[in-house]
Amino acid sequence: MAGDVKDPGLAGTGRERIAWAGAEMRVLGLIRERFEKERPLDGIRIGACLHVTTETANLMHVLAAGGAQVVLCASNPLSTQDDVAAALTADGIPTYAIKGEDTATFFRHINAVLDTHPHVTMDDGADMVSTLHKERPDQIAEIVGGTEETTTGVIRLRAMAADGALRYPIVSVNDADTKHLFDNRFGTGQSTMDSIMRATNFLLAGRTVVVAGYGMCGRGVASRARGLGAQVVVTEVEPLSALEAVMEGYRVMPLRDAARIGDIFVTVTGDKAVLRREHMELMKDGAVMANAGHFDVEIDKPGLAALATGGIRRLREFVDEYRLADGRRLHLLGEGRLVNLAAAEGHPAAVMDMSFADQALAVEWVVANRGKLERGVHPVPRDIDREVARLKLQAMGVEIDALTAEQEAYLRSWNEGT
Ligand code: NAI
Repeated sequence: MAGDVKDPGLAGTGRERIAWAGAEMRVLGLIRERFEKERPLDGIRIGACLHVTTETANLMHVLAAGGAQVVLCASNPLSTQDDVAAALTADGIPTYAIKGEDTATFFRHINAVLDTHPHVTMDDGADMVSTLHKERPDQIAEIVGGTEETTTGVIRLRAMAADGALRYPIVSVNDADTKHLFDNRFGTGQSTMDSIMRATNFLLAGRTVVVAGYGMCGRGVASRARGLGAQVVVTEVEPLSALEAVMEGYRVMPLRDAARIGDIFVTVTGDKAVLRREHMELMKDGAVMANAGHFDVEIDKPGLAALATGGIRRLREFVDEYRLADGRRLHLLGEGRLVNLAAAEGHPAAVMDMSFADQALAVEWVVANRGKLERGVHPVPRDIDREVARLKLQAMGVEIDALTAEQEAYLRSWNEGT
């Protein structure tokens, strides 16, 4: 059997959990029914590099139902759910992913997927696209197009496009409204707090939570932390985002000030070296640091290790204690990797339903338009975005009003005024 998983014996548990998530993914279910009939992906090989979770498994099955041959690897070494990888592989979707795999294995797995010569790449963070361009450029001629799931990946792809280095069309799924307005905000918000609670079992009420980065994800984290009774401090580098946070009622201050008062720090910026040694030196005994941004570079781990002359030890699952020379203890969750995927299960299925509906429809669109799309980063077509929102409302049993003919005419005209 192709694929590389931790334990094929976990397939049964994986299947149960995939089905549980699938019941929450009603939009994807509707797309699956259509794909089964229309087979829009017949003959297409898809290489996916995504977090190997129950929700991703449902997306993989929808693509396969549409006629595609699908192969999957992890987009993060610590986010894989080993039972899901086992179930997918057993059910005909070879998966190359083992939770906790080292960097060499991570890239070996990406290359194993590329060995299948995909026509379509689906990426989350652009590691597959970057490997393809750097190490396997000969294969690019076989590619029809791709999709990218996350903010950081889209930033990397735009940088490649600006350099003239991106050699095929990629749809930036992250930029769909039905993706980032919901997944980044409500998904990251809830699952990040969930992961911090699972890892620490701390009471959040009354604690000071510092959120670095008030973008789409940061808004979600800040609002969920506040909902749990925490006092929330936001740090930012963009005046507009900082102003929004102030008007939302959060305290906004530089990280060097927040460092002294925070109990729990969450970085979610997409930037690097946000929480640095100079901040850690100011932190209280027992402070907790977690990262929800895509790469594990937001918290300066080498700086933290250098500071820990009193030793480093694993305190409990996903909690490492760093002891400073003066006896203070700082705690790092999930090794500084995406905490919501490392220490919890990632976003709830009901919100991934929309992101992955965008993914499935974006792949269908790329395939339907093969040969016609310019190389570069493409937005998700507006029709797809609106259709996903419509289907989600339908699935939730929510009805909305429609414009009357009079209203439509009014909104189109410029004659009527005061
Ligand atoms: P965004 O671009 O909407 O927001 C990022 C914010 O961070 C911006 O407001 C920016 O000004 C701010 N920022 C940048 N450098 C900073 C610094 N040094 N200090 C303070 N603030 C700083 O991006 P979004 O969508 O919120 O994504 C953030 C990160 O989270 C990305 O890496 C993205 O890929 C990742 N992500 C993680 C998810 C998860 O499941 N954990 C889900 C979706 C996205």
